Amino acid sequence: MGQKNLEKNNKIGIVILAGGVGSRMKLDIPKPLVPLLGRPLLSYPINTSLSFLKNEGIPGKVSVVIGYQGELIRESILRNFDNIDFVIQPNPSGTADALKCYLIGNEENKQFEYTVVICGDTPLITKSELSEIYRAMLETGSEAVVGTFVHEFPQGCGYGRVIRDGVGIKIKEEREATSDEKKINEMNSGLYIFQTKFLINSISKIKNRNNTKEYYLTDIFNSESKISPITFKDGKVFRGVNDLIQLEEAEKWLGERKRLELGNKGVRFKRADSNIIDDGIEIGAGSIVGPNAIIEGETIIGKNCLIGPGAIIRSCKIGDNVKILAYSHLEDSIIEEGADVGPFARIRPEANIGKNVKIGNFVEIKKSDIHQGAKVSHLSYVGDSEIGENSNLGCGFISCNYDGKNKHKTVIGKNSFIGSDTQTVAPVKIGDNCFIASGSTINKDVPDDSFAISRGRQVTMEGKAKRFMP
Ligand code: UD1
Ligand code: CA
Repeated sequence: MGQKNLEKNNKIGIVILAGGVGSRMKLDIPKPLVPLLGRPLLSYPINTSLSFLKNEGIPGKVSVVIGYQGELIRESILRNFDNIDFVIQPNPSGTADALKCYLIGNEENKQFEYTVVICGDTPLITKSELSEIYRAMLETGSEAVVGTFVHEFPQGCGYGRVIRDGVGIKIKEEREATSDEKKINEMNSGLYIFQTKFLINSISKIKNRNNTKEYYLTDIFNSESKISPITFKDGKVFRGVNDLIQLEEAEKWLGERKRLELGNKGVRFKRADSNIIDDGIEIGAGSIVGPNAIIEGETIIGKNCLIGPGAIIRSCKIGDNVKILAYSHLEDSIIEEGADVGPFARIRPEANIGKNVKIGNFVEIKKSDIHQGAKVSHLSYVGDSEIGENSNLGCGFISCNYDGKNKHKTVIGKNSFIGSDTQTVAPVKIGDNCFIASGSTINKDVPDDSFAISRGRQVTMEGKAKRFMP
């Protein structure tokens, strides 16, 4: 579309509708807060709206209409966004009622030249669709521009049908449509831009004469007013989330988009459709993510890392050149540059795995600092501990950190060698450069440079084995 006449001074009020009950979800939490790739559903249209205004450099404001469980929604959204205005819809009775509440909820809302409406349950819409309807408004000077898309199999899809009529259009909700109207395959996306004056003048005329007794915003469109439908090629972006099946569908598509974004930055996904990568994840170039790996929360992964098949990583900070090998499970931890973890390792919250550390198979680390170059290679539990640089914990090491009431700390210094099958009964300290013999139970501090051994002496009786044989 031409760039002419793009007046940047037009103010826009964007209103996101999130007041409905969302009963088709069958969940206790309100639909706008349902998690979608690690973020609440409602945060997607909010992000899209904010980035549209920013990108176009248009002065404006983003408002959200809340009703059902509104307080919960407001609190949760304000944790991640400021500068969002909330308007309350006290008795949710349809999308037109939501918009009425928006207009009377704040005087300022009537002053914006244009009003953009987005449904709070259409998370795939991007700023480019908003830009397109805005441009169409500037170019056509219509009372309203309606985003539409073509659905191949319209029966039962739940979207309103677009009936082109006169200089305008009509929209028939599926539940009100005749069987012929149901066959129409041009759908209402639920994304509109209005001349605010038209909206104010027309909204009060909407009646609730329909099967649900709701006030439908779609009844605002008519044959006499100049309404411009614009048909978008990619209907996927307008898919609404009304039930859990559509939620999964949306998650799949958002996931594809996320992997594409990371792929373009140099991240390789092997069997990409088996990965779940949350929206907030960052991964550096040259990294490879194996099949079935799940990366969640606010995880940041550096460059040239290897994330093995089936690894599950939640809210971790991982440096460059790290290997997280197959089927390891990591949560709320830091893994520094060059470290190797797994396969089959479990890294629990507050573990700090230092540079070039090696954590091997069947090792569990919890709330511990493992300093640079240390090794815990096999079958160990390290909890509430500090392990100094370049120390080596042999196979089967256990920090006995819990006495039944309290947790205690094990501290091991630098360059110490801890033989296999050693237990430290915390609180206890082992110094630098120590050598602990295998099979020892250490319950007293061991000073720097010491050798310690605590195990029963071996007795060998030649020829006596027969006595113990069955
Ligand atoms: C709506 C449109 C339909 C369109 C579809 C696109 C109407 C009447 N129908 O149908 O034409 O094809 O979106 O996805 O508008 N809401 C409120 N307050 C209310 C009721 C709803 O804020 O009283 C909010 C909901 O929370 C939701 C949005 O409005 O985010 C849309 O409501 P929903 O019930 O999902 O409408 P659809 O049946 O999907
Ligand atoms: Ca919907």
